[in-house]
Amino acid sequence: MKNILAISASSREGNSNSALTVLKESALSKGYRFNDFKIKDKRITPCDGCLKCDETGSCVFADDMLELSNQLENADLIVFVTPIYFNAVPGIAKSFIDRLNPFYTSRSLEGKCVGVITFGQTEPEDMEYVVEYLKRMFSGIGVSFWRSACITAKDPNDFIENPDSILKVRRFFD
Ligand SMILES: Cc1cc2nc3c(=O)[nH]c(=O)nc-3n(C[C@H](O)[C@H](O)[C@H](O)COP(=O)(O)O)c2cc1C
Repeated sequence: MKNILAISASSREGNSNSALTVLKESALSKGYRFNDFKIKDKRITPCDGCLKCDETGSCVFADDMLELSNQLENADLIVFVTPIYFNAVPGIAKSFIDRLNPFYTSRSLEGKCVGVITFGQTEPEDMEYVVEYLKRMFSGIGVSFWRSACITAKDPNDFIENPDSILKVRRFFD
């Protein structure tokens, strides 16, 4: 059975977090196992660049990344849901991403796939560079890009009040 792990990189209860709910319903209806977490709820110390993980394959910090790393290793498909902040991912997302460096050495995520969902106030085509960034970033730790959906939304309820946008996320696993 496919194990899906969805991650929200939003700092607020808004579009990305609503998308987690829709993804969950969709995944369960297809008989997949579904887990999710919100980066904002986790204790993630910013990487200090010591690069001990290059030698050991694990991080010197004992925080929530330990548990989150297990969740990543147990997933077949990762869905990374992120708002766009200043043409990039939000700071909390980057802190999480930097802490993925141990996987560069351990290669324990090799063979997994990632789907990306972005929310921004601009047109979907203006978000593609963030998808491209995440594609490259995940590729560096052995995770292959699967698919993406870029959704225009600004205020926290824009997504959940737009049936077309909801459909895009509901059909993400089709
Ligand atoms: C600090 C900040 C910077 C933002 N920068 C961009 C941007 O560069 N491009 C964009 O399309 N939207 C930008 N936005 C809008 C958010 O991406 C948009 O409100 C999105 O729906 C937020 O998703 P969320 O509700 O999941 O947090 C920005 C919002 C904030 C708070």
